[in-house]
This record gives sequence, C-alpha cells and structure tokens, in this order.
Amino acid sequence: MESPFNSEALQGKVALITGGGSGIGFEIATHFGKHGAKIAIIGRRKSVLDEAVEKLSSQSIQALAIEGDVRKEEDAKRALDSTVAKFGKLDILVNGAAGNFLCLAEDLSVNAFRTVLEIDTVGTYNMSHHAMHYLKSGAPGKKSGEGGLIINITATLQFSAAWFQTHLVSAKAAIDSMTRNLALEWGKDYNIRVNAIAPGPIKDTPGMSKLAPDEINIRDSPPWGEKWDIAMTAIFLASSAGKYVNGAIIPVDGGAWFHRPPH
Ligand code: HXC
Repeated sequence: MESPFNSEALQGKVALITGGGSGIGFEIATHFGKHGAKIAIIGRRKSVLDEAVEKLSSQSIQALAIEGDVRKEEDAKRALDSTVAKFGKLDILVNGAAGNFLCLAEDLSVNAFRTVLEIDTVGTYNMSHHAMHYLKSGAPGKKSGEGGLIINITATLQFSAAWFQTHLVSAKAAIDSMTRNLALEWGKDYNIRVNAIAPGPIKDTPGMSKLAPDEINIRDSPPWGEKWDIAMTAIFLASSAGKYVNGAIIPVDGGAWFHRPPH
C-alpha cells in the first residue's frame, strides 16, 4: 500500500532500529528509508541482518547492520557509536527487539520470565539510556534546538490480561511505564520525545506466527492489521506531524484489545 506521507518526510534523519532485521522492525526500517532516513539495524542473527541490508540497499536506502544483543551494555554502546560514526548523528531510536513464547505461569520458570524481561524491558532501557547522549539537543551532529525521538514497540495484551503471557504482559507494562517516565524526564530538559506503539494482531510477523499459528484463536476478533499500519504510525511520530506527541502509548489494533478472544 502506498504511503500517505511525503517521500521527504524523514529526509536527513538517522534511525537505529533494534530487531530491525525482520518483522515489524524491518517494515519500519524500510518505510523510514523510503521517506529519506538513513538506517542502522541491530539484531542477533548475522544472516537475517545481511539479507535485510541487501533488501534496503536494493531500494537505495543507506543501511548499516550491527550484530549484537540488546541485553548487553557493550553491544548497545557499540551499536550507537557505530551508527553515529557512519551517519554523523542519531535522531531516532526504535526499540523493536522482543522475545516471546506461549507458556502458562505454572510452567514458566523464573529464568524464562527473566529472559523475556531482559530482552524486552532491560533491552529497551539499555538502548534508551545509552542513546540519550546522542539524541538530546546539543549532541554531536545536531542542529541547534534539534532533539530526538524514541519509539518503543510494546503490545496491547498488558492493558488487560492474557493467558500464557505473564512474562510478556509484565515486560510490556514496564515498558509502557518507562515510556511515560522517560518522556517526563527527557522531554523538557533534552527535547527527546519518548512514545510507544502498541500493535494488535499483525499479519506476517514472527510474534503472531508464534502466538496464533492457525489464526483460530482470534477468528472472532476485529480484522488483523498489517506491518504497514505500524510503520505509518512510526512515520507520523518521527515526522514533524508528531512534534507535540510525547509520552503516548498508541494502540494500533483496530480496537482489538476491547474484545476478549474466545477461549
Ligand atoms: C517455556 C521457554 C520457552 C517456551 C524458552 N523457554 N522457550 N519456556 N516455553 N516455549 C525458557 C527456557 O527453557 C529457559 O528457561 C529460558 O526460557 C531462556 O531460554 P533460552 O532459549 O536460553 O533464551 P534465549 O536464547 O535468550 O531466547 C530467548 C527466547 C527466544 C525469547 C526464548 O524465543 C527468542 O530469542 N526469541 C526472539 C524472537 C521472538 O520471540 N520474537 C517474537 C516476539 S513476539 P530455563 O528455566 O529452562 O533455563 C512479540 C509480540 C508481542 O514480542 C505481542 C503479542 C500480541
């Protein structure tokens, strides 16, 4: 589907996208690139990153891949430093990296719970904490008064409760609170906006193929969304259209979270 935004909406911006090699992260990378941004992606699998960079480059998008794990501070710092070394600055951080599986709490080991919180919540904080110095106004490569943006990819399940998802809802609820708090602390002093997008059921994503392999679980829910819907919301936030939006958790789910799936 064609974008409703001007193709120069993100001209000159530099974005680092965690989990940017596949799924929603890659969709955001592609559309950011098509709207003029330079793109860095970080992920754990080299083959996935290589393929992603090849696809971005074939669309004339300047792209850099960094192999790394968002749970590790040294990887976060290296990814941020390499992005700024290559592209001269950082304007946007998208925290898209996540881990998930279906498991009832009674079977969920403490280590399994910790693993998802470490990837999602600690990973988001790790990247945001180290990115702040590059995103804030006055950082290297920034024009006077120019700030930055963090977009956290969260979920809608934590707005209520979800079977098999204690780890996920705990991780995402923490990210939602972190989003508002960093918006509070960094918005005024550093001109960094921090927002979250909460996707509902989105077709053709690793998350939904893990959680709803046959689509039967949610057959009575509102229609599934597309990765495009999430990417367009991200462009809205990253373009000048979103300049007054800070600390928002934006559900992009066709209203799905109001509906209880049948079980
Ligand atoms: C129960 C499980 C499990 C499962 C792993 N564990 N898979 N427990 N059911 N299916 C347990 C392990 O037994 C172990 O605990 C602990 O979790 C850590 O497992 P590791 O395999 O060592 O972890 P790691 O290699 O770091 O892998 C992390 C992962 C993996 C989350 C388990 O699936 C992953 O890397 N996923 C990344 C990609 C992904 O999931 N993308 C989808 C995101 S979907 P013990 O006790 O045995 O040591 C998403 C959408 C959300 O975020 C919105 C939904 C609508």
